Amino acid sequence: MTSALSLANRAIQEKKDEINPRWYPSYHLAPQAGWMNDPNGLSWFDGYYHAFYQHNPYTPVWGPMHWGHARSRDMVNWEHLPIVLAPEGAEDKDGCYSGSAVVDGDRLALIYTGHKFHGQPCDDNLFQVQCLATSRDGVHFQRDGMVLDTPQGVHHFRDPKVWREGDQWFMVVGARVDDIGEVQLYRSADLRQWEYAGVIARADAEMGYMWECPDFFSLGDKRVLMFSPQGMTAKGYTNRNLFQSGYMTGQWQIGGEYCALQPFQEMDYGHDFYAPQSFETPDGRRVVIGWLAMWESPMPEKADGWAGMLSLPRELSLSAEDKLRMTPVKELESLRKEPHLWSVSQLKDQALVVEAHAEAMEIALEWDLSQSRAETFGLRLGRGASVHVDSQSQRLVVERDYPEHGLCGYRSVPLPAGNILSLRIFLDRSSIEVFVNDGEYSLSSRIYPAQDDRQLTLFSQHGQALIHKAQAWAMAD
Ligand code: FRU
Repeated sequence: MTSALSLANRAIQEKKDEINPRWYPSYHLAPQAGWMNDPNGLSWFDGYYHAFYQHNPYTPVWGPMHWGHARSRDMVNWEHLPIVLAPEGAEDKDGCYSGSAVVDGDRLALIYTGHKFHGQPCDDNLFQVQCLATSRDGVHFQRDGMVLDTPQGVHHFRDPKVWREGDQWFMVVGARVDDIGEVQLYRSADLRQWEYAGVIARADAEMGYMWECPDFFSLGDKRVLMFSPQGMTAKGYTNRNLFQSGYMTGQWQIGGEYCALQPFQEMDYGHDFYAPQSFETPDGRRVVIGWLAMWESPMPEKADGWAGMLSLPRELSLSAEDKLRMTPVKELESLRKEPHLWSVSQLKDQALVVEAHAEAMEIALEWDLSQSRAETFGLRLGRGASVHVDSQSQRLVVERDYPEHGLCGYRSVPLPAGNILSLRIFLDRSSIEVFVNDGEYSLSSRIYPAQDDRQLTLFSQHGQALIHKAQAWAMAD
């Protein structure tokens, strides 16, 4: 292990027992201490799922980027492993930025962005290059240096996502070219020599100045381009966060142009979901994990010695209209402890306490919209968070109200067309992830209830609401 890695790993060992656990997730992946952002290198290798992530082991703020590492047999129970990359080479001296992993014969190969300034840190001096690191045991990595240099005149050029197709390797990279976001394509025979293969897609006037974290994969008979644009403006209920993450579905064949069949759609409509990356499970499912946080959003857990967490793994599928559906992977059911049946079928101008203290829970609710005329109805956690129907706007709302932390406001999606609104809600100590009607929409947000403010209530205001199903499970740690 290099001395930079030893120092980083020592910092984590020293700090991990000092964190305040009040908002530390019970069944999501988060750094043992320090800062986490994007998921990186999601893969299956040697009998384990691997999740790497953008990591500053020294302080719970974004800083010199390392790659943290955890592995799991089931995407649910994660084991923390030593940090694998530190910013210590000539090509990544100012950060080991986001990237991906592929299995190359008997090795796990990481392809990531080396971030470096030539001189003073400023955009003109910024150079981002793509680097390689390889491992036989999936734990210790050898640094193989730069494999793709910055294109002439480009400064922002990052987040390589590599895959194998036909008899070649392909890589998509996010780039900012004359302040327009685009996704570039490269190809290689050996992961070491890369050849430019054109532009997959480029922003129009409204689509942002930089596209981060591109991903490009087949799903059913379509090709999905997923990316995280910076610089889109909010419009009505959409694009409300500082940066978005979303996708287009289309068609593509090796050597051809990408033909998008639909405009950009957001992946998740909550306050906190960014930089998602996908990977394929050994049984052929396409799974996505995102960063459950948002740039420039206050993260009150910084005061506790850690910051940032990853979303639950979500299986992707396509709807009949070629929209992405995301549902929590089935492995999560193994975390369910004994069921709590909430005996409630109807609410009328009422608030019914269903749990005195809820920290880590899965909740399944089914509302009959045709029999629910209340102005608002839903579920509330303590004083500060709710998931409710707003009948006036005909929308499902996730609202948080933590003025003490500078986190207030709502996000929402349209109600489904039919009579049934079915919700799967995953609560953890500082997060809520809501899956609507089998993954038609999801809304993911960070929440910060005080320890004594975790009562769960079902409520209806100004009228009646009818519930077909109300069930919950405490989740194992
Ligand atoms: C996305 C991102 C990536 C970059 C990384 C740096 O959140 O900005 O584009 O590689 O984070 O930590």
